[in-house]
Amino acid sequence: MEFKVIKTVIFGMLTLALVQAKNGKLKEVFSWKQVDFAFPSEAARKAAIDSGAFIKEHNLPLGLEVYKDKLFITLPRWKAGILATLTYVSLKDTSNKSPNLIPYPNFEANDIHKKDNSTTIVSVFRVRADQCHRLWVMDTGVTDILGSSEHITSPKLLVYDLKTDTLIREYYIKKEHIKEPSFFANVIIDVTSDKCDKAFAYLPDLGSNAVIVYSWESNDSWRVEHHFFHMDPLAGNYHVGGVNFQWVDGVFGMALSPVQEDGYRTVYFHALSSTREFAVSSRILQNETLASNSYYEYKQLGSRGPNSQATASFLDEKSGVLLYTQINKDGVGCWNSFKHGTEYSADTNGLVASDNETMIFPNDLKVDTESNLWVLTDRLPLYLHGKLDTQDVNYRIFKAPVSEAIKGTVCDTA
Ligand SMILES: *[C@@H]1O[C@H](CO)[C@@H](O)[C@H](O)[C@H]1NC(C)=O
Ligand SMILES: *[C@@H]1O[C@H](CO)[C@@H](O)[C@H](O)[C@H]1NC(C)=O
Ligand SMILES: *[C@@H]1O[C@H](CO)[C@@H](O)[C@H](O)[C@H]1NC(C)=O
Ligand SMILES: *[C@@H]1O[C@H](CO)[C@@H](O)[C@H](O)[C@H]1NC(C)=O
Repeated sequence: MEFKVIKTVIFGMLTLALVQAKNGKLKEVFSWKQVDFAFPSEAARKAAIDSGAFIKEHNLPLGLEVYKDKLFITLPRWKAGILATLTYVSLKDTSNKSPNLIPYPNFEANDIHKKDNSTTIVSVFRVRADQCHRLWVMDTGVTDILGSSEHITSPKLLVYDLKTDTLIREYYIKKEHIKEPSFFANVIIDVTSDKCDKAFAYLPDLGSNAVIVYSWESNDSWRVEHHFFHMDPLAGNYHVGGVNFQWVDGVFGMALSPVQEDGYRTVYFHALSSTREFAVSSRILQNETLASNSYYEYKQLGSRGPNSQATASFLDEKSGVLLYTQINKDGVGCWNSFKHGTEYSADTNGLVASDNETMIFPNDLKVDTESNLWVLTDRLPLYLHGKLDTQDVNYRIFKAPVSEAIKGTVCDTA
């Protein structure tokens, strides 16, 4: 994602008629001009800066996840000097609005220069905590993506026990499943708390238009391809934060319905450079044979309308509302699956929040176990194609109960 940049043009002033509203619903919990880390000492911070291990302005928060009193934040290694790629801040005390990030599970695991052969977390875009107290980490394995693009390891899935903060599974994507343009920037976990061993991970490969399905029980995976995993050539143009750019990213966002009568979930999915949403049953994805031999089981739901490209999506099981980022609209969109069933169009999709200053590039969102929506915005196009103003607030984390967020929109249950 945000990876396959074809061409970039900077516009001085840009106005999008659609993006007017100021965000009044989501509460800002944290914000940073630039992020810093919780070093063990001032001497350690100075040493990291002097050695180039920490170049402050290169550290951009991208993914988030909430587990109990930890708010996980990922920082992909786009450039050199990203001190740690997987971090968290504590939610116990949120009085400090710009807390230092704490490497997870520790500094050493995030250290790509260490000499020993213990597991290294190289570069992470997104993580997911499941109902079984496990943190699933999709590691692209590539550092300095925009520069030397050094492959430190092949892409791997790491799973941590959140009760002990120890690594309990390390799985490398099979060589035959990795294509030249492959890029793994998301991880979706399909599990129920009473059957932890029956977990499946869906790993969208936005570069080669495929989904890798991993089974925890068999510690095995398969690659699934479908036409619906591809981008829409008419939806690859973006105007965000005054920057115009083109991306060709394929399948990216995936969200899960509650478990249905047949014991399976509906998996809603979309390519990043697309305005359409699709759906398939987890019964199909979880069966290696069916997944690749069931063309008609993958359904088109419909289009959200112009300028509605989305990165991450998440379905709140309580309300049935599918929430997704709206990068061309500086906001967050919604669709109520309980209310609208299979009616999916610009009319049944709403905008829960939008702000052309504080919500420039909503990059990731999650709904926690108490049905709170969390959103991370980070001005990524400026970091990639322009320049971030280090004197301005660039990174923000917002929160709101889903029931509040959808009030007054077409997704409202009332
Ligand atoms: C944001 O929207 C407001 C209201 O429409 C507009 O006046 C302002 O110029 C916009 N700012 C940017 C940076 O686009
Ligand atoms: C890591 O290094 C140690 C000491 O050199 C060695 O005993 C061990 O087998 C190595 N482990 C792996 C996974 O390579
Ligand atoms: C799972 O498969 C990986 C191969 O990537 C292997 O290294 C690992 O030991 C396996 N783990 C278990 C628990 O079988
Ligand atoms: C996958 O589906 C096929 C066809 O319905 C079925 O024969 C097979 O048993 C299924 N495999 C598993 C592992 O469930």
